Amino acid sequence: MLTVTGLTKQFGGFMALNGVSFEVREREILGLIGPNGSGKTTLFNCVSGALVPTSGSIRFRDEELAGLTPDAICHHGVARTFQIPRPFRKLSILDNVAVAAHYGAAKRSSEAAARARAREILELVGLPTDGAASTTLLGAGGLKKLELARALATGPRLLLADESLGGLDPAEMHDAAEMLKRVRDQYRITIVWVEHIMAMLMRVVDRIVVLDHGEKIAEGVPRQVAEDPRVIEAYLGEKLVLA
Ligand SMILES: Nc1ncnc2c1ncn2[C@@H]1O[C@H](COP(=O)(O)OP(=O)(O)O)[C@@H](O)[C@H]1O
Ligand SMILES: [Mg+2]
Repeated sequence: MLTVTGLTKQFGGFMALNGVSFEVREREILGLIGPNGSGKTTLFNCVSGALVPTSGSIRFRDEELAGLTPDAICHHGVARTFQIPRPFRKLSILDNVAVAAHYGAAKRSSEAAARARAREILELVGLPTDGAASTTLLGAGGLKKLELARALATGPRLLLADESLGGLDPAEMHDAAEMLKRVRDQYRITIVWVEHIMAMLMRVVDRIVVLDHGEKIAEGVPRQVAEDPRVIEAYLGEKLVLA
């Protein structure tokens, strides 16, 4: 569904991404991992249009995304969550999601339809659906859920989820990981998931791509990647024992 070929992003003389190629298959959850600064968020920024790649191709369902604007890419069916949630603080939880449903969907819907869709998604992620609930009620876990709800409201085929578990306690983490699976099954979408908590990621993803210093150093099913000497050296530090 997504084919990234030779993706390169330079900031001045610095190569944040250097010739990265990989594929994302329809309906899979692909884990994207690597040390801090390895280029994960830059890759999401390039695919979602926040950054224009220096070179390389990003083909999504037979269309080239590289160089398109973020709104055009969103309307093609690619949504992303941000590592640091920034909701519209003056809007209710419901309206934050309704705005995404209204403006983010490929086909503009009525306000009433956007609110109805927002309610359905808020229910799925476990947030209040009444129009009065304010974003100030939300802690770290709630903000992550809102971030996911806003992305889903745009009706994506592909969801790019950036470090969605940071700041959550173990029970919230477990719920959030299960929710990604539920979202994939219920909305029939494909997910690329950046996550540092390896034990959680390994349980949920079908395959993993590993970045280091802007280059892909490994790719495969979780067990394979966890035993890869290059991955252990660059990222894991030690061999992970998988349950
Ligand atoms: N807008 C930018 N300008 C300059 N350097 C950047 C910019 N965005 C990211 N970088 C650099 O690119 C590298 C990769 O960053 P990033 O993609 O955020 O890593 P990750 O998400 O894997 O932690 C880092 O060294 C970071 O400092
Ligand atoms: Mg990042």
